[in-house]
Amino acid sequence: MTEDNMKKLFIPIILGTARQGRESEKVAKWILKKVSEHPEIETRIFDPREMDYDFQDEGQNLKEKNTDYRDAIIRADGLIVIVPEYNRGYPGSLKMILDTLLKEYIHKPVATVGVSSGIIGGARVIENLLPVYRELGLMASFTDLFFPKVKTKFDEKGNLEEEEKYNKRFYGFITELLWVAKTLKWGRENVESKYHPN
Ligand SMILES: Cc1cc2nc3c(=O)[nH]c(=O)nc-3n(C[C@H](O)[C@H](O)[C@H](O)COP(=O)(O)O)c2cc1C
Repeated sequence: MTEDNMKKLFIPIILGTARQGRESEKVAKWILKKVSEHPEIETRIFDPREMDYDFQDEGQNLKEKNTDYRDAIIRADGLIVIVPEYNRGYPGSLKMILDTLLKEYIHKPVATVGVSSGIIGGARVIENLLPVYRELGLMASFTDLFFPKVKTKFDEKGNLEEEEKYNKRFYGFITELLWVAKTLKWGRENVESKYHPN
């Protein structure tokens, strides 16, 4: 880790689907670029295709198979989740990733990017994720980012149309996440809790 990175907040990104032909990957690339450019943030992306999951087990039993993810969440000051809407819910692969840890998430903020082919932009799946976040001890930011009609949002080279509009929305999304991340970091380091040492 460079000295510069030590001062930055570490905010990893989860790409919430392994589907072949996933449109969310284009969204993830744009979000990764924007977050990487932010001077106050260090990031990296977690892709379910590159993680060690199968349908032979569930939950924290899978923690030791994905130590990269475990270590990243232990170090994280927050999290960004990119989630496509599948039948109003979230993909099983995202739930599988989230379920591998528990105490590691406590008192950390999460901001969510919803993706859908329909006009709702993932708003319904984000609502459905909130009880999961709550159970994990994650604190949901209230500034979501939406990519409705995602197939119309990127050109054939993967460039985002309406980038100016999305830059403004991204600014609100990331500014709020940073505020909560800084506040909760201070809290984790200064306010006694049975859930983490300080
Ligand atoms: C199993 C499944 C269920 C889906 N259900 C919805 C839905 O409820 N609402 C919606 O707007 N789009 C739905 N879609 C379309 C996705 O939102 C669409 O594929 C979009 O591109 C985002 O997902 P992707 O990253 O997998 O491409 C569904 C797609 C799949 C594969």
